[in-house]
Amino acid sequence: MRKKFVAGNWKMNLNASEAQSLAAELKAQFEVCENADTIDVAVCPPFVYLSSVAAALEGSTVELGAQDVYFEGNGAYTGEISVEMLKDVGCRYAIVGHSERRHVIGETNELINRKLHSALAGGLEPILCIGELLEEREKGQTEAVIERHLRKGLKGVGKEQMLNVTIAYEPVWAIGTGKTATPAQAQEAHEFTRKILADIFDEEVAQATRIQYGGSVKPSNAAELMSQPDVDGALVGGASLKTDDFMGIIKGGIPPQGDCSSCCRNCGK
Ligand code: 13P
Repeated sequence: MRKKFVAGNWKMNLNASEAQSLAAELKAQFEVCENADTIDVAVCPPFVYLSSVAAALEGSTVELGAQDVYFEGNGAYTGEISVEMLKDVGCRYAIVGHSERRHVIGETNELINRKLHSALAGGLEPILCIGELLEEREKGQTEAVIERHLRKGLKGVGKEQMLNVTIAYEPVWAIGTGKTATPAQAQEAHEFTRKILADIFDEEVAQATRIQYGGSVKPSNAAELMSQPDVDGALVGGASLKTDDFMGIIKGGIPPQGDCSSCCRNCGK
């Protein structure tokens, strides 16, 4: 069974002391969270706060991730950050291909693929974001976009390497809009994603790969989204900036213990 994985993408938010407090609060609350060992959790702060957040999380099982990474090892690449630098400050994960980088900064699938390879080669675990724009969904192109992002983003990646890759399906129309994909829409896209992974690699890789959902995830919809058979966690933006909200989402991803009569996390079962 795939272990659920919830990651907070803080994007370009918070100042140094807010970032440190958020990390410290999360550490404290996650430590006393029941069955915390049944879920993987990470936060992805802005680059400049990675070290202080790492210090605040010292001794915690909450992992650290970066919001991006560059594909070159070192040299004259003003403003960029390498895999080695991220490892050096304690990162385990790096988001690649986030829709804001695709659509605001203009990153291409080819660039994203190079970043992904570089992350894997250097021992970082990439979270590859995929997902369609509203106009693409309206034109019936959702599956074509998912397939293109997967085939181009994962080009040249070996089956073994896929053990260290997480996919995040983030429909762009649901990001920061308050408009969440319905659990059925998320499940449909995730099932299709897994089908393409089986085609690119094989069924074993497809079944083992974790696919997070991202886009206006909140405590009130997290459990139901993550109870879908192909939804293996969440990549959370806005709601990861408040400890209580993020903890609410994490708890929504913890598998029910015991039978349904003793648990109501609003999962819809
Ligand atoms: P929101 O949760 O704010 O919609 O952002 C989702 C996202 O882009 C996470 O990477």
